[in-house]
Amino acid sequence: MTSQPFPGFHLVRHPLADLKVSALRDKNTPPPDFRRLLQELSQLVAYEALRHFEVTPQKIQTPLGEAQGARAVRPLVIMPVLRAGLAMSDGILRMFPSAAVGHIGMFRNEETLEPVSYYFRMPPGASDAHVLLLDPMLATGNSLAAAADRLKMEGIAHITCGCIIASRPGVKRMREAHPDITLYGAALDEALDARGYITPGLGDAGDRIFGT
Ligand code: URA
Repeated sequence: MTSQPFPGFHLVRHPLADLKVSALRDKNTPPPDFRRLLQELSQLVAYEALRHFEVTPQKIQTPLGEAQGARAVRPLVIMPVLRAGLAMSDGILRMFPSAAVGHIGMFRNEETLEPVSYYFRMPPGASDAHVLLLDPMLATGNSLAAAADRLKMEGIAHITCGCIIASRPGVKRMREAHPDITLYGAALDEALDARGYITPGLGDAGDRIFGT
């Protein structure tokens, strides 16, 4: 179940998600548990974010007869923003193994907080796909907005964004830059600190995933 505390942002509201977000935020959660929690939360977020993933009826033969099934109208491509987005794609691939995966490499200039792009790779046929753009931390929104700019430049029309923790300023920035893209997340925090980190957030997601 989702509700909208902010237009265009769907907060996954479920006790399971709340419990997992709490454990993820806890500074004492070690990397193996952090990774697993992030993967599990990504599945819960993707479950909601793919609610409007288009399917069409398809007849299926079961061992006992014919059933009405469904098939995807267009392929799913998941595009994690490196490096923290990788834990999200690992979780979602377990739920949707036929999804193709592209990668967007971005880091933040720590002084300007502006994104710097260093890698972009899309699977073949991605321009016709439904793309789920993944970054666990929607902080300033600058990286995600730049990543969405790039996807649109590549001709991708169907984009949905999934994150785990979003900040209000980040959601506002994304909404201004890309009002057509709906955002899904498991928590919405109020503020950013001077370094552009979400507060209270969970710290640096990449460091906590990879133990760096
Ligand atoms: N990236 C993170 O990993 N954490 C934040 O709070 C902001 C950006």
